[in-house]
Amino acid sequence: MKIFLDTADIEEIRIAARWGVLDGVTTNPTLYAKVGGSYDDVLREICQLTSGPVSAEVVAEDVEGMLVEGRHFARLAPNIVVKVPMSEEGLEAMSRFAEEGIKTNCTLIFTANQGLLAAKAGASLLSPFVGRLDDINEEGMTVIRELVAIIELHDLESEVLAASIRHPRHVTEAALAGAHVATLPFKVLQQMVRHPLTDKGIKTFREDWDKARKAAADKEPEKAPVRQN
Ligand code: E4P
Repeated sequence: MKIFLDTADIEEIRIAARWGVLDGVTTNPTLYAKVGGSYDDVLREICQLTSGPVSAEVVAEDVEGMLVEGRHFARLAPNIVVKVPMSEEGLEAMSRFAEEGIKTNCTLIFTANQGLLAAKAGASLLSPFVGRLDDINEEGMTVIRELVAIIELHDLESEVLAASIRHPRHVTEAALAGAHVATLPFKVLQQMVRHPLTDKGIKTFREDWDKARKAAADKEPEKAPVRQN
């Protein structure tokens, strides 16, 4: 499963890229509002930090407006994917973008049927929102499972991107459900790295090493194990 970062924060993207785990980035107007500045500049900078897909979301609600915004984004960098909301207008816009060779990510998907329609309209990425469904007492991961099954059963080309991920368990479940991608807030990525037993183990190994080194040095100073740091 590919891992995207769900953020417009350049520093977070830089860090994930350095860790070697970053396959792409998703942004949306809310995430962009948190960092401000020029959306175009932010997108260009993100596209330099990853060669993977970078989703840029349109805010127009009519087809022509979506096309204008999306074509503009697509000119910013070769790895831009235009994010289009699920709606009648969104389907038409995604179909037109597909004809023009512009990749799209259909966002705000809450049912497998919406995902199926977006796949048929030519979206490369289908983004069901897991966390927002959980928030209203529905089972967000069910949509991921159903959509992955539909894509595989009917040999469709779109990829399922688990969005609105709220915690590390969502990531594990999305991976087990066969999601092609999960997009994560940076905090969830950090939570995935850590485990109290890992932290405790690192501390104990270090302490035992220091103890052994001290004992060896006390006994035979010239044969004590040497560390570079
Ligand atoms: C990603 O493409 C979505 O915009 C994002 O995951 C939504 O997450 P939220 O429900 O936490 O806002």
